[in-house]
Amino acid sequence: MNTWIVLLAAGSGSRLAAASGGAKKQFLDAGGSPVFWRSAQALARCAGVSGIVFVFPPDELDAAREAVDTLDASAPLGLDRRVVHGGARRQDSLENALSALPRECTHVLVHDAARCFVTPDVAARVLEALRSGAKAVIPAVPVKDTVKQVDAQGVVVATPERASLRAVQTPQGVELEALRAGFALARRENLTVTDDAGLVEALGLPVSVVEGSEANVKITTPEDLRLLAPARVPAAL
Ligand code: CTP
Ligand code: MG
Repeated sequence: MNTWIVLLAAGSGSRLAAASGGAKKQFLDAGGSPVFWRSAQALARCAGVSGIVFVFPPDELDAAREAVDTLDASAPLGLDRRVVHGGARRQDSLENALSALPRECTHVLVHDAARCFVTPDVAARVLEALRSGAKAVIPAVPVKDTVKQVDAQGVVVATPERASLRAVQTPQGVELEALRAGFALARRENLTVTDDAGLVEALGLPVSVVEGSEANVKITTPEDLRLLAPARVPAAL
């Protein structure tokens, strides 16, 4: 098995833009390093990963490439690395990253750069399931709130049983061959998916679930900016 990380950092961060002065969330500071770099560092600490493809917005590609070179020079990830531009949808960014993978790559760990609190143990559980033969693996946590399905008028139509629901995170592990087949199907049927394993699910193949982490939140809305604030140090002891 030869596994590469695909770090998706090509979004526009529209839900956060007003609160961040227009800055894209993956480039905000997280305790001295950009959010995307924190994510890369955490995943690089997981044994058994060979390389990483960074995916950035086309208009910030050159600046981001330079930032990666500088950051890796001062604190090397110890991975082979490539940098590419993303596309309009998350799945377009992933598809573009696939073209940068080397021939020997057989599996990918696809990660949202905005999940910068990920820990290596989550990635290790995903890798372990891939090693055991799973074609697609997602980390997930039980849902805390009751979830309602509503109609266009906002009226409740169903209440799925909470015990069977999971909130899905990244990194998601996928066998490359299955992922490519999923993309071919998505193109034929014009499918949009919000998670990577969804492409494998669409093929009718099983998707395994491993334990995620409550800490592995995705910076998404202005409230999440609090999570990036540096830890407060007592002024005087
Ligand atoms: N992403 C990407 N390419 C896209 C869209 C999203 O690489 N075309 C990445 C984002 O950079 C992020 C991850 O996918 O790390 C998860 O997406 P999301 O949280 O939705 O981020 P954005 O799309 O940037 O934010 P928003 O939906 O608020 O605009
Ligand atoms: Mg988005």
